Amino acid sequence: MAVWDKLWGLLFLLAGAVGQTVIYPFTSTCAVRGSTVTLPCTFTPLKSFSDGQREVPLKIVRVLWCQNNVFCLRPAPSVWDTDSKTSDPRYQYLGDMMTNCTLQIRDVQQRDNATFRFRMEADNPKGHFTNMIGVTVRVDDGSKMRIISSGDDKKLSRGETVTLLCASVCTFHQLEVTWFKDGHALSETGPSLLLCSLNAEDSGSYTCALKTNMETVSEPYSLQVEAGWCDQFPSDFPVRQPAA
Ligand SMILES: *[C@@H]1O[C@H](CO)[C@@H](O)[C@H](O)[C@H]1NC(C)=O
Ligand SMILES: *[C@@H]1O[C@H](CO)[C@@H](O)[C@H](O)[C@H]1NC(C)=O
Repeated sequence: MAVWDKLWGLLFLLAGAVGQTVIYPFTSTCAVRGSTVTLPCTFTPLKSFSDGQREVPLKIVRVLWCQNNVFCLRPAPSVWDTDSKTSDPRYQYLGDMMTNCTLQIRDVQQRDNATFRFRMEADNPKGHFTNMIGVTVRVDDGSKMRIISSGDDKKLSRGETVTLLCASVCTFHQLEVTWFKDGHALSETGPSLLLCSLNAEDSGSYTCALKTNMETVSEPYSLQVEAGWCDQFPSDFPVRQPAA
């Protein structure tokens, strides 16, 4: 009898372990300091457990993300926690209490170079669960942004259109950048800069950097728009109109 009890207990534990999941679609990522990184995550809570006589429903009452702690257990601090109102605003929980446990980290700092784990807690400890694998974030501090041009030649003709992309070795999405032309900031903040129907004034030296980290400023990208044949004359040059 006692043996059966133990066996049932074991089966129950196994059932519990397979009944709830936390899935990180990728378990490592890299982010440039100052950028924003999203850690996608989904979870399935255990819906109920049997106390021997009946099924007891479970409800998730707390979700949290912690850093460098295998089980996310107290007293380890969490980076985001439904139980704590004083978390760092850089950590934004984009998930919910049902299935989505996505975490976003803004303005990535050196101290985010760590492993992050998600934990759910139910109204009964049988529903508590942490995925120990976690997501490892590697913070890249040294690399500069890079400008990639859609045009294969740096010498472009008037009227052409070119897109400059400000990219980094690490983070490609959600980049907020500052563009500069000959050292002056432009108003565009997206990672791509579209230059439509180029003219001679678009020629210059372009650089870009993460808005939050000017140390990432790229090498200059020199863009030259080839002057048309007429551009060699001053604008007040008398042009003879063709005879009617
Ligand atoms: C989770 O929520 C985030 C933010 O709202 C969303 O971008 C993502 O697609 C959601 N993931 C799933 C699997 O629904
Ligand atoms: C970042 O974490 C990795 C391990 O994930 C470690 O090898 C590396 O030294 C850390 N870098 C810094 C700058 O702390």
